[in-house]
Amino acid sequence: MTARIAVFASGRGSNLHALYAHLERAGGAEIVLVASDRASSEALTWARGRGIAASTLDSGGNDANGILHILSASRADYVVLAGYLRLVPPEVVRAFRGRMLNVHPALLPAFGGPGMYGARVHRAVLASGTRLSGPTVHFVDEIYDHGAIIAQWPVPVFSDDTESTLASRVLRAEHLLLPRVTRLVASGRIRLNEDGRIAAAEPQHDGAAFLFATPEDDALAESMASAIGG
Ligand code: GRF
Repeated sequence: MTARIAVFASGRGSNLHALYAHLERAGGAEIVLVASDRASSEALTWARGRGIAASTLDSGGNDANGILHILSASRADYVVLAGYLRLVPPEVVRAFRGRMLNVHPALLPAFGGPGMYGARVHRAVLASGTRLSGPTVHFVDEIYDHGAIIAQWPVPVFSDDTESTLASRVLRAEHLLLPRVTRLVASGRIRLNEDGRIAAAEPQHDGAAFLFATPEDDALAESMASAIGG
């Protein structure tokens, strides 16, 4: 069965484009609605150009009944927040618990929360001195950037990075990670348990398990050496 996905986006929608292209190729899910809190969002124009239903959310995305209505009219099974900057009303979060995902351009639980979006996230990462950033895809709960983390992907921070060079490196990984996690969730291979923890049907789908996919320390050392020398 093809899962029906609604995408919420506030701005240019490059994650939406990446998700659409991936689902066109890989199947298993399709985008049936694009919604935005901003009538001028490029994501809406893009959707209309492809014959995908496009809606502007009333009251800047604060009208819970309005959102529930358009989601039910489009028979959406899942909601993906792809560059959506508003807090989703709690009634909607409750109705889609375990069926709503968000992509954040840093490694949560650091560098998230209210006001942490766009260039501010990358500025905070650079100011912290960390050598590692990368996208996080998580289930959405009632608090900004707080729900259970499904997957993250490490992206290096270089000493000469600016907000914009770091943002584009992380964005490249977002475009690869979000579609894959969306398919995992839409196919039931990853789900949110009653206790708020992630359950993976297969160990290889369990978050960043790939990093330790190789059990031999020699192989791990080799991989470190090729990354940092030594
Ligand atoms: C992405 O970096 C996303 O993680 C963040 O906002 C940016 C949106 O980019 N929440 P786009 O609209 O998908 O191009």
